[in-house]
Parts: sequence; structure tokens; C-alpha cells
Amino acid sequence: MASLTIRKLDDGVKTYLRLRSAKNRRSVEEEVRVILRELIEGRQEPLTPFAVPPAQSTAPTPQRSGALPEASVTLIISGGIAAYKSLDLIRRLKERRIEVRCVLTKAAQQFVTPLAVSALSHERVYTDLFDPQSEFDAGHIRLARDCDLIVVAPATADLLAKMANGHADDLASAILLATNRKVLLAPAMNPLMWNNAATRRNIAQLQRDGVVLIGPNSGEMAEAGEAGIGRMSEAIEIATAAERLLRPPVPRPLAGKRVLITAGPTHEPIDPVRYIANRSSGKQGFAIAAAAQAAGADVILVSGPVDLSDPQGVTVKRVESARQMLDQVQAALPVDIAIFAAAVADWRVASEGEQKLKKTSAGMPPLQLIENPDILATISKLTDRRPPLVIGFAAETEHLIDNAKSKLARKGCDWIVANDVSPATGVMGGDRNTVHLISRKNGEEGGEIAVDSWPVMTKEQVAIELVAHVVKSVTDKSREPAS
Ligand SMILES: Cc1cc2nc3c(=O)[nH]c(=O)nc-3n(C[C@H](O)[C@H](O)[C@H](O)COP(=O)(O)O)c2cc1C
Repeated sequence: MASLTIRKLDDGVKTYLRLRSAKNRRSVEEEVRVILRELIEGRQEPLTPFAVPPAQSTAPTPQRSGALPEASVTLIISGGIAAYKSLDLIRRLKERRIEVRCVLTKAAQQFVTPLAVSALSHERVYTDLFDPQSEFDAGHIRLARDCDLIVVAPATADLLAKMANGHADDLASAILLATNRKVLLAPAMNPLMWNNAATRRNIAQLQRDGVVLIGPNSGEMAEAGEAGIGRMSEAIEIATAAERLLRPPVPRPLAGKRVLITAGPTHEPIDPVRYIANRSSGKQGFAIAAAAQAAGADVILVSGPVDLSDPQGVTVKRVESARQMLDQVQAALPVDIAIFAAAVADWRVASEGEQKLKKTSAGMPPLQLIENPDILATISKLTDRRPPLVIGFAAETEHLIDNAKSKLARKGCDWIVANDVSPATGVMGGDRNTVHLISRKNGEEGGEIAVDSWPVMTKEQVAIELVAHVVKSVTDKSREPAS
């Protein structure tokens, strides 16, 4: 059987192999085996070894929507008695959809075997700085940077000392010196080692250098009769800390708040097949619902007939007419914040035809219109269950600000979001919006009115900005002293 010396290959082939194996996280030798197997089995894509793929980005792995974002960790296991707990840590990280590549120090191999670590991580294990296979493509640099986080568990007193002083005389310390990723250390040692002045100095230095520590906990030591601070944190604690560094929790400033939003047009029936409608697409209200949900609110969206799918995590009530919308709005009370973005028809037909109206020689049937309930005014003027913050929308085609100011006074709401919906703006049905937030200064009725004009934005950006204003108002109110 022929053997292949990778060093003797052309530079272009070597570069291709180096980048491809790095991308697939295999050793170069393994990558060559895969390529040969693919060739023999008949690969789908043509092999283009000289089309060198773009260099690996050092940015964290992009998030996939829906599922948990994928992440990868280089786990360094150093030579402490707690190394056995790292086997459980590998499992805990993998449960969280975190890929794990392990590095064992020489001393660590006295406590756990590379075979066990490899079997649990489903990856090859790295042990040597001077490993011709992995160092062919500067493996220690790849292990240092081709991951989102480095975890050292257990971190021995010896490895802490090396790190604090910038040593790089084995694979673990070389990786820790060469990395630009965050490092999470889980120290584990005898309490006397932990309290030793040298370890104290090293820990203080490492904290100044920005490494993150978890533990150690206090408790009984492996050494009979000894107890104190020095036990490595449990695997589940380390995995949770790693996950928090990899996927920081999203702030949820509206957690615990109920937000009611209306969106879209209403359809006011003339007869069983005809209706009065308007051009509202519902996009702005749906975007606000999604933004409020992302801010942690419990969102109820009451929507007229629109061609939009339910925003994730939002309770959606679909209605047709203004009266049905009012019913659903009232059923949703009490809420903390109500945002009325729907374009509710002002009028409906006085008596809806039970059968389809027929064309007759008598000419056009007279359509008598009557006023629809005013949802914004009705809820703003409630004496009992009025939401603490009521926001209306004013869609105007002329005298935008003046009309919006008088609407604020007339309806009794707290804020008006005014937008120009003249056909030239393309706002109705479009993706962008130019809005003005009209509110009472100091929130007092009859007080001075403030107009905050926002630049042209997408409807999603308007939604995020509006929710940011809501968050500020809610936070400011919660800071006010109780009267
Ligand atoms: C049985 C045994 C248990 C040990 N446990 C620890 C420990 O928990 N923490 C520690 O810092 N060192 C411990 N050591 C000492 C380390 O193994 C030693 O300092 C070694 O050089 C560490 O190498 P490393 O940091 O490269 O893994 C232990 C040694 C032995 C023999």
C-alpha cells in the first residue's frame, strides 16, 4: 500500500488541504482519506483543489434562526483529580448543542484517557504541541481561535501559573496564549494550594487579564479528611456558565407586561359578498407585536383581515369588522399597554344585506352609513380597566401634526403615532414609514404637547423604536415614588 508524504505535495494542494481540513475540523491526514473515499465513491461536486475557500472568519458562528445558535468550545483538561468530572462536562455541553474539541495536558492523561474523552466528544483529542499531524496546519492556533470559547476544567494551580505568566511550553498553555476568544476557568485544587499566596497572585492577574472564573466551590476534598475551598464546580454549573458566555441572555425589559396591539384594516360587510375596506396591510402592527414579544411582553394581537402569518410567540385573534375588533379588545383587558395600530373603518353600512344585492332597473341601492365604535376612544376613556399606557395611530393625508394633536386631545389616549398615508408616501401597504410621536409633556392632560419626528425607517425599525419608548416610559413610571 502506497503512503503519502503530505510535506512533499505542491504548495497549492497543501494550502487547499490545510484550509479544507481546518474548515471540516479534521486532521489533514483524515481529510485526505475523506477526499480519496469521495473520489472512489463518485463525489457529487467536481474537486477544485486550487479554488481556495475564503479564510475562516474569527467572528463567532452566525446564529441560525429558530434553533439554538450553534457554538463550539475548546475544552482544556489539565491534570487534577477533578478531571473525571470533565467527562460529564463534555456531555453537558453537547446536550446544549455545543461542539467540544478536547485538549489534554500530559498530567491530565494520568486521570482520564484520550480514548474516553474522544469517545464522548466524538472528536479526535489533542495532546501534543509537537504533533506532526495537527501542527502541519498550526493546530494550536486553530484550536485557540477556531472556537467560540475556551473552557479549562479542571484548571490546575500549575496551569493557572503558566497562564498568568504567559508560558507556552505545551499545547494547553500555547493555546491559552494564542487565543483571542473568551476563556472560562474552573479551578480545582487542594484548599492550601488555592489559598497559597502564589495562586492568589495568579488568580488576581488572570482576572485583570479578563478571564472568567467559575468556582471553586467549598466542600470535601479527595484527600481524606480535608475540606475547604478548592472543589471544581459541578459539570452542570460549568456548562451553564459556558452557555451564558456563548449565548448571553437577551434582555426582556417588558417581561411580565401584557401588551395589546391591533393591526390591519377592518372589513365592513355590505352584503354576504361585498365589504368596505381600506388599504392597510397590517405590517406596522405585526412588526410592533413582534418587537414587544422580543422585549419579553405577553402580546395579544387583534388583527383585521391581512395576508401576514402570526408573529412567533404572540397570541393572535383574527377578526373582520370593527365591532368584532372591539369585542376582542375588550376581552383582552386588563393590559398594561394598548397600541391601536389598526386602520378601523369609521363607518359601516346601516343594514347589511342578508342576500347579495342585485342590480335592478331602479338604479344603485342607497348605502346608508353609520358610525362604527371608536375603539381608541372607548378604551382611553374607560374608568375602570383603562390600560396605564394607551397609544393610538393617526393616519392622515393632510395637516398631519395638527390633526394628530387634536386626535390626542379628542380620544384621550397618551400618545399618538402620526403617519402621512398620502398615496405618494407609499406607506399604506409599503415597508417603510415616517412617523411622529405625539405625546403630552409630563403626561398631563391639557399640558404642553411634544412632537418627536423620526426619520424614514422600515416598519420593523419604527416598531423597535416605539417599543423602546414604551420600555422607557414603563421603567420611568416604575421608578416614580408611590403617591
Ligand atoms: C493524585 C494527584 C492529584 C492531583 N490533583 C491536583 C488538583 O486537583 N489540582 C491541581 O492543581 N494539581 C493537582 N495535582 C498536581 C498536578 O497534577 C501537577 O501540578 C501537574 O504538573 C499539573 O500539570 P498540568 O497543569 O499541565 O495539567 C495532582 C497530582 C496528583 C499526583
